[in-house]
Amino acid sequence: MSSLLSRLATVAAYGATQAPRLAWYAGHGLAMRRLSQTARQLEGAPARAPARTSKPTPDRNRHLADMTDLLKRDLANVGAGLYPLPIDYDGSLPTLLKRSRLFFEDLPRVHRRRRENGHSDVLEETTRGKRPRYYLQNFHFQSGGWMTDESAQRYDTQVEVLFSGTANAMRRQALPPLHEIFAGCDQRRLRLLDVGSGTGRFLASVKQVWPRLPVIGLDLSESYTREARRHLARWSAVELVVAKAEAMPLPDASQDAVTSVFLFHELPPAVRRLVFGEFARLLKPGGRLVLVDSLQYGDKPEYDGSLELFPQNFHEPYFDSYAREDFGALAASKGLRHVRDIQAFVSKVMIFDKVG
Ligand SMILES: C[S@@+](CC[C@H](N)C(=O)[O-])C[C@H]1O[C@@H](n2cnc3c(N)ncnc32)[C@H](O)[C@@H]1O
Repeated sequence: MSSLLSRLATVAAYGATQAPRLAWYAGHGLAMRRLSQTARQLEGAPARAPARTSKPTPDRNRHLADMTDLLKRDLANVGAGLYPLPIDYDGSLPTLLKRSRLFFEDLPRVHRRRRENGHSDVLEETTRGKRPRYYLQNFHFQSGGWMTDESAQRYDTQVEVLFSGTANAMRRQALPPLHEIFAGCDQRRLRLLDVGSGTGRFLASVKQVWPRLPVIGLDLSESYTREARRHLARWSAVELVVAKAEAMPLPDASQDAVTSVFLFHELPPAVRRLVFGEFARLLKPGGRLVLVDSLQYGDKPEYDGSLELFPQNFHEPYFDSYAREDFGALAASKGLRHVRDIQAFVSKVMIFDKVG
């Protein structure tokens, strides 16, 4: 009886934190699509851009069913004690409203870039030569690319709107495979590196489970790293490093686990290979690599059309080659063994172990 009550309390608490987030971000998505349709009509274009794919796309019911499956699994993981009830705190009401304003203010600029296929605004005198050329683009057509504080403050809202409030739940699906290798270990003696750590959302989930685990977040953006520092301020044993993933300033065989969330679809194929080489170098023998990123072609054939459309609507120059990449073969070429994949709504978790 008491276990049933405690299960019900967990479901109620989960719903109380997740439902308002889903409604908030799905509402933003609805408003964004309406504004975009109105802007297109004012320009004399059809309200919706014609779909340029011959592959299948999921209907609304399938989409909702897959999203529900993700949330059920998230809740089941909480119930199984793999992680606590997610905090998923997006800030006080004034912060939420400020982020919402930043998000909506940028939409006309995003719309203009999408119409003109403008993706090089970020390449200017102040940035040229300071980062690799492939990095200096307006990914997602967003203002500032990865290079400005405003972009870093807008990012979490943009991602949650894109995924209707489920981005954190997808990131959390990387935690169970970490559990498998951390179980029974003294967390203070383990080391975890998150590559392309952005605003620190995934590391916040990691610290909720393993508060004493020493973690490093590495990202090439000073602005995003500043945002991550603010976001992770309450946790100890967090180091944040501005560096590039293809040459990380860390010792060989220093990490028990390396994670990377939503980074790989933004890397050119040659850079993906360099970064995998770095993962293999940094992991201890027997250490684990966990990637979270988009589904690839064929994972869920009903989504293949969506995967083809995504880079047409959001500037993602390397997405198509990402969606075709054979990660098992790439990993094997660097001495990493593919363990398994876990599909999670429109993302998947890829797990690899360093042959020890
Ligand atoms: C789509 S965001 C993902 C951020 C975060 N992991 C998340 O879960 O939202 C990609 C991040 O990778 C970083 N990034 C891109 N290329 C990189 C590189 N070569 N080395 C290090 N960071 C990189 C960007 O600065 C950005 O913060």
